[in-house]
Amino acid sequence: MAASDAPNKPAALRLFFALWPDDGVRAALARLTGQVAGECGGRPTVAANLHITLAFLGNAPAERLADFIALADALGGVPFDLQLDIVGHWRRAGIAWSGASVVPAALVDLAASMKRALEAMAWPVDERPYQPHVTLARDVQRSPRTRTSALPLWRVADFVLVRSTQEAGELRYTPLRRWPLGN
Ligand code: 2AM
Repeated sequence: MAASDAPNKPAALRLFFALWPDDGVRAALARLTGQVAGECGGRPTVAANLHITLAFLGNAPAERLADFIALADALGGVPFDLQLDIVGHWRRAGIAWSGASVVPAALVDLAASMKRALEAMAWPVDERPYQPHVTLARDVQRSPRTRTSALPLWRVADFVLVRSTQEAGELRYTPLRRWPLGN
């Protein structure tokens, strides 16, 4: 029996809100991941898992899922274009990432309103400044040589609630629900 199935222990879901790349952006990010992971000696992110986190929720009791869905239902937000054009490296975190030299105000606003809504429901939030990024590789050994990237323009028209699970040691991110921006 899995620990989360133990009697008297409510099942927990590991959750986060994210931007989920379309197929074209995902394919280009997957190619960039292979290149960057090779350069920096890191563990590449599985292509299907590539995303930008909006808010990390952590482990939540299953019965709180309805609260997060209601939060997202009530959230405003407008669609925006995102040009991922830079590659960076956080030495201490051991992460190589893809990001945008120009972060659209609509993305900053979306993440900020999500954080305010989570605070309003007394859910613990990350107090660090929001730095939108796609993690390309973890446990990196050295800075990637690549500094810029020419990815297709990403027309961000929705966001998702994602469940994170480990299956046979493999990390898997499954979008549970999708919300359009601007409707
Ligand atoms: P990362 O990619 O920079 O590691 C799922 O774990 C997603 O939530 C990842 O994209 C991860 O960011 C992000 N995240 C933010 N805060 C986290 C935390 N405290 N623990 C794990 N993941 C976190």
